[in-house]
Amino acid sequence: MLKSGSDPVCTELYLLVPVVHPFLLLLLLLDQTSMNGTSVENFSCVIYNISFMNCTWEVGRNAPEDTRYFLFWQYSKEEDEQECPHYIGDATGRHIACSFQDVKNIKNTVYFLVNGSSNESEIQFYDEYINLYEIEKLTPPLNITVSCSEDRAECRVRWKWPQISHLEGNGDGCFEYQIDIRNKKTNVMLHLCTFNIRLK
Ligand SMILES: *[C@@H]1O[C@H](CO)[C@@H](O)[C@H](O)[C@H]1NC(C)=O
Ligand SMILES: *[C@@H]1O[C@H](CO)[C@@H](O)[C@H](O)[C@H]1NC(C)=O
Ligand SMILES: *[C@@H]1O[C@H](CO)[C@@H](O)[C@H](O)[C@H]1NC(C)=O
Ligand SMILES: *[C@@H]1O[C@H](CO)[C@@H](O)[C@H](O)[C@H]1NC(C)=O
Ligand SMILES: *[C@@H]1O[C@H](CO)[C@@H](O)[C@H](O)[C@H]1NC(C)=O
Ligand SMILES: *[C@@H]1O[C@H](CO)[C@@H](O)[C@H](O)[C@H]1NC(C)=O
Repeated sequence: MLKSGSDPVCTELYLLVPVVHPFLLLLLLLDQTSMNGTSVENFSCVIYNISFMNCTWEVGRNAPEDTRYFLFWQYSKEEDEQECPHYIGDATGRHIACSFQDVKNIKNTVYFLVNGSSNESEIQFYDEYINLYEIEKLTPPLNITVSCSEDRAECRVRWKWPQISHLEGNGDGCFEYQIDIRNKKTNVMLHLCTFNIRLK
């Protein structure tokens, strides 16, 4: 099995400073009448397959049955906030996830806000700044080939860098790979090696 490193790739390349949001103040004022535990919990997002993103959350423990949540995100202070393009609902139709396509500028820190409405109580909002490159789930390395020569008892494994959204060039020196060699019959691991590759 080949695995690319799970750490954010070359994150030291980007030092990003979150911006303060004008509409946060307004929301803070509105928030005073809302009930504790009505905001979403366990909000998280993942970027996968280069430009897709899923965000998921759980309904707040004190959120009334009729609560509807809405996700907004904002790339930068200069841009307008945009609403989730595609909600995913639970069995009762409450929004519990959002899927995005064509996510660009993965170097950015993005502001996420989940607010909600209900006829029974005010719903607290939840917000978070996320560095998109830190939540990217990398694609596997490409074109893996193994060729073994019997006479020299040697095998050669080759692959190409995985595609990655936020790096220019080929990511030379940025990836850590792991090769896990197992006995096919017993599934016992024979050898495991981890290494960084820097070609040329
Ligand atoms: C959020 O996650 C924690 C830890 O997994 C869990 O204990 C908690 O119940 C979750 N919250 C909700 C509302 O499900
Ligand atoms: C990744 O996205 C491309 C389109 O950009 C699509 O053709 C491909 O099927 C996707 N792969 C996976 C594993 O979802
Ligand atoms: C993203 O959400 C879609 C739709 O719910 C789902 O099919 C897919 O498995 C999710 N992908 C990840 C990486 O969570
Ligand atoms: C949620 O926030 C968005 C963006 O600020 C705002 O346009 C919308 O009216 C808010 N919705 C609720 C229910 O508070
Ligand atoms: C609140 O009640 C009104 C009128 O009955 C309804 O149209 C609306 O959908 C309700 N809102 C929610 C969040 O259930
Ligand atoms: C992977 O191999 C296929 C078939 O040999 C080739 O068409 C493709 O260009 C290769 N991909 C890369 C990234 O080299």
